[in-house]
Amino acid sequence: MLKINPNRTFPNVRMRRNRKSNWSRRLVSENYLNLSDIIMPIFVIEGSNITQPILSMPGINRISIDRVIDKAKFCYDIGIPAIALFPVIDQSLKSEDGSESLKENNLICRTIKSIKKAVPHIGIMSDVALDPYTNHGHDGILKDNEILNDKTIDILCRQAVLQADAGCDIIAPSDMMDGRIGRIRNALEIEGFQKTQIMSYAAKYSSSFYGPFRDAVGSANRLKGDKKTYQMDPKNTQEALHEVALDISEGADMIMIKPGLPYLDILFQVKSSFKIPTFVYQVSGEYSMIANAIKNNILPKKDSIIESLIAFKRAGANGIVTYFAEEVALQLSKR
Ligand code: PBG
Repeated sequence: MLKINPNRTFPNVRMRRNRKSNWSRRLVSENYLNLSDIIMPIFVIEGSNITQPILSMPGINRISIDRVIDKAKFCYDIGIPAIALFPVIDQSLKSEDGSESLKENNLICRTIKSIKKAVPHIGIMSDVALDPYTNHGHDGILKDNEILNDKTIDILCRQAVLQADAGCDIIAPSDMMDGRIGRIRNALEIEGFQKTQIMSYAAKYSSSFYGPFRDAVGSANRLKGDKKTYQMDPKNTQEALHEVALDISEGADMIMIKPGLPYLDILFQVKSSFKIPTFVYQVSGEYSMIANAIKNNILPKKDSIIESLIAFKRAGANGIVTYFAEEVALQLSKR
């Protein structure tokens, strides 16, 4: 704890002296936001030359594979280390058990392969969960109103191996089934993917801030009930530490806290306790709130976005998944 010498009081001490000019503020600043901290999420759809705006997320689009490649190139050229892919599959391919997730040539696998070929040195992260593929919008197998844990894991393991085989660098299970990190790690080992990283969505809360994402992947109207039996209760802190400890012991290389701004305390405690690479997801609802405020001239574009992201750095994040990635890249490269 900082000890204040009782003799060092005003006017000997004037905190404003170090803030007097831009160069001085830069000199004493404690945290920085760098493009190396950013992971860009991308929603991919079938077709070519397609850009489809997502109405609840102003400025964010679903795009076809050719355009995903352009985005990946942009990220690589400007210095963003990795992208996170989310497939938006045709409604007719959604099913009770999400079986499209296990097709070797499905949208996500083709996207991963194309990016690997065109932009080999960008990190590719992809989601492991069933919700983009199920007709009920849940992340797992639904039976008699229950999400079946172990049966879901069997599918997630195959999904993870398939994506790793397509060239995915970081497998990111966002499903919150118990024990899936250990089982996925084991499946990757057995199949020869020893170098595939796992970023576990370890502390993922059952949040009302995911609405625009569910819109984006077309699961919003389908979702039956809520995800409270597998995602975490927003009232809990200790449970998050327990979740993270388990995922680390099961073989996660990196862990994620999600959502971001409403859970800064969790991020801070997790990073302080475990000291492993810790990421945060500034989710769709957070994005939409800020983006809509900017659009309506309620918040200033430049400062509000960076302020929302530097908060994560202060709290200890190694990196941030944010839909502002492209905007931040443009802003930071202008300085
Ligand atoms: C689902 C998944 C969700 C998000 C990422 N993966 C939504 C959910 O759990 O319902 C949300 C991301 C966001 O809101 O930006 N596996």
